[in-house]
Amino acid sequence: MNVKIGGTTRPYRTVAFDADRNVVRLIEQRLLPHEFQIVEPANFKETARAIRDMVVRGAGAIGATAAYGLAQGARTFRGANLERFQVHVEGVYETLKAARPTAVDPVNAMDEVRAVMRAGESVAEQQVLALAAAEEFAHADVRHCEAIGRHGAPLIQEGMRVLTHCNAGWLAFVDVGSATAPLYAAQAQGRKFKVYCDETRPRSQGATLTAWELAQQGVEHQIIADNAAGHLMQRGEIDLVIVGSDRTLGQTGEVANKIGTYTKAVLAKRHGIPFYVAIPLSTIDWNLNSGADIPIENRHEAEVLGAWGVTAAGQREYVRVANPGSSACNPGFDVTPAELITGIITPAGIFKPRALRTKRKLIDAAA
Ligand code: MRU
Repeated sequence: MNVKIGGTTRPYRTVAFDADRNVVRLIEQRLLPHEFQIVEPANFKETARAIRDMVVRGAGAIGATAAYGLAQGARTFRGANLERFQVHVEGVYETLKAARPTAVDPVNAMDEVRAVMRAGESVAEQQVLALAAAEEFAHADVRHCEAIGRHGAPLIQEGMRVLTHCNAGWLAFVDVGSATAPLYAAQAQGRKFKVYCDETRPRSQGATLTAWELAQQGVEHQIIADNAAGHLMQRGEIDLVIVGSDRTLGQTGEVANKIGTYTKAVLAKRHGIPFYVAIPLSTIDWNLNSGADIPIENRHEAEVLGAWGVTAAGQREYVRVANPGSSACNPGFDVTPAELITGIITPAGIFKPRALRTKRKLIDAAA
């Protein structure tokens, strides 16, 4: 999407790859909205660290980063011994997989890359195929988000007030975004609407990233405290909720997404407000049979006990907010059951969550 810095506007992707230098190129998301910087993890271990430390975050974006990271790691192998190469690639895969556990996109992305690599008969061929497959994963991510936009745009009617949680925008993907795709498509069709961005404590991706994105694209929006949504719903000030997902179970329609999503889904049900989840195909887990089995990332308590911000002098600083000596519990994601979800917006169309399983052929065909 377009980024305006100073007087200049130019398009960026959240994740890209410089093949000549074998480096991944990422927008440093921890600095936004205060500073726009591109960083270049120089090897697969640094790429895994960038995922773990949330330089890059959001299910689709970490999926593409893992795909490129796998290619990056594969391309550093020297020699022609295929067996040794495979052991090396396995190590790269496991390192990238361990970086963040809840989102399934990195695993799906790397499985796709590895499947393509298998057609290569030599190390050199597999290295070439790895990069081509990672590039294709990134392009497919963009195509899927655009298709989500086409299917979801009719949901966004003139004058609507839409709530979103965390950041499921283009910064959470390679481009366009999932929850934001219908918004950007409706905007392109000339409709005006307003977006409420949940602040999304503890890391505030709504207040920092979604608000920045919407401001860059000229979409009317306001940030709300996480606890304000119930009040606004009760007063009839929210017409629709759209969120993203880090893992959607194809078998049950359950959705793991940023902590607080479940609360919003319960509130939306209570107030009869449609609640949609927008997902590219790489977010679907066809294997797990229960949301209780989704690994939920437990994050460092410092995120809850304090906050990062920028001082008047432009310095980025962490301040402690909570009572000294108190500890915190910090689950990063929660699981929303199918009965609270009105529809799942996929690149193949909008489906009831429990119908995903029966629509698998149609959904897979959208790849
Ligand atoms: O911890 P984050 O910032 O990676 O969490 C991001 C979210 O929860 C998004 O809503 C999610 O990834 C879905 S959109 C890609």
